[in-house]
Amino acid sequence: MAINRREWIQQSLLASAALLVAGTSGAYGCASGLREKRIQGAPLQLNWNENPYGPAESAVKAVNEAMKYANRYPDEYIVKVKDKLSKLHSVKPENLLITAGSTEILSLLGQHVGMQKGEILTAYPTFPTIIQFGEVSGATIKKVDLDKNDRFDFERLSKAITSRTTLVFICNPNNPTSTEVPTEDLKSFCRSVPENVLICVDEAYIEYSNAGTAGSMVSLVNELPNLIICRTFSKTYGLAGLRIGYAVSNAANITALRNRHLGFELSTGWPPLVAVGASLDDQDFVNMCVEKNNEGKQIVYDAYKKWGVDYNPSSTNFIYTRHDRFDKQVVAKMRDRGILITKWPDMYNHIRISIGKPDEMRKFVEVVEDFLV
Ligand SMILES: Cc1ncc(COP(=O)(O)O)c(C=O)c1O
Repeated sequence: MAINRREWIQQSLLASAALLVAGTSGAYGCASGLREKRIQGAPLQLNWNENPYGPAESAVKAVNEAMKYANRYPDEYIVKVKDKLSKLHSVKPENLLITAGSTEILSLLGQHVGMQKGEILTAYPTFPTIIQFGEVSGATIKKVDLDKNDRFDFERLSKAITSRTTLVFICNPNNPTSTEVPTEDLKSFCRSVPENVLICVDEAYIEYSNAGTAGSMVSLVNELPNLIICRTFSKTYGLAGLRIGYAVSNAANITALRNRHLGFELSTGWPPLVAVGASLDDQDFVNMCVEKNNEGKQIVYDAYKKWGVDYNPSSTNFIYTRHDRFDKQVVAKMRDRGILITKWPDMYNHIRISIGKPDEMRKFVEVVEDFLV
């Protein structure tokens, strides 16, 4: 691809202004009402796909230690984290951009497309951040349906690519449908996308998937100049509150993203960086989180099977659940009972349940049974 650096920098001020005026919708994430509840009480939070086991003890220790460096900018440690990540992914440090969560990458890419009045193509429903940032900064959004199993449909997406397409967004595994696509199908699709069209693959939940990290598209980054991968430490690594993620792409794209990035790659600080440094050396912790997450999912699957509730077997830490066996007001009624679950405004037939600890999921099952119809 050509992310045109000069154009992008020139447009960045306009993008920020557009965002200030328009804002972005919070309907999908940290809606203010829910945030109030979260701070006031301690409801069971099965609504934001957080990791109930994190952070790793090794990460907490590293963060406490790192406070003594807080008077210094953390650029030196960015180099260390990139070094670890480049070994992990067999890429060069120039292929990596460290950001304050993958939200930053998605927002940068959404704005990039919007500023050139381009088009974002995706299947829907999917994680909407890139769409929202694209829309408020001028992008056209083209959505095709998912397939009958709520997975990205590559035939439909391929047919929908036209001369107007600027970027294709793929979320794998997909939020909110909790589904994953076969690795080889996604690889073939990425290879088939014309080089002048960007591909953004969001792999926020990859560690939870059946394919695991072997299903990542990172291995294609050196082959495909138009491919950008987003990864986050908010999920299996349990560091959502520290805000850290990264992009993997070819060096030219990373430079363009970095130059457009508000912090020039310094939007993270010592605590998130050292937490990542420690967590990357603590794969046992990640494995434990994945295993416990499977245990939590099984508790819900067993109940759903008993009740005849339809759901997607989950490749993530949440379950996309058919709504029709539950009271229409189940989300509000569960909230009144101290359990937060999610229904996005355009998720007509489904609710989304994040997976907590096994005891929490037993509690969820006990309460939600009252709202079966
Ligand atoms: C698919 C997907 N991508 C990205 C994000 C954003 O994650 P981060 O905390 O890294 O900004 C989320 C958060 O829930 C997500 O579900």
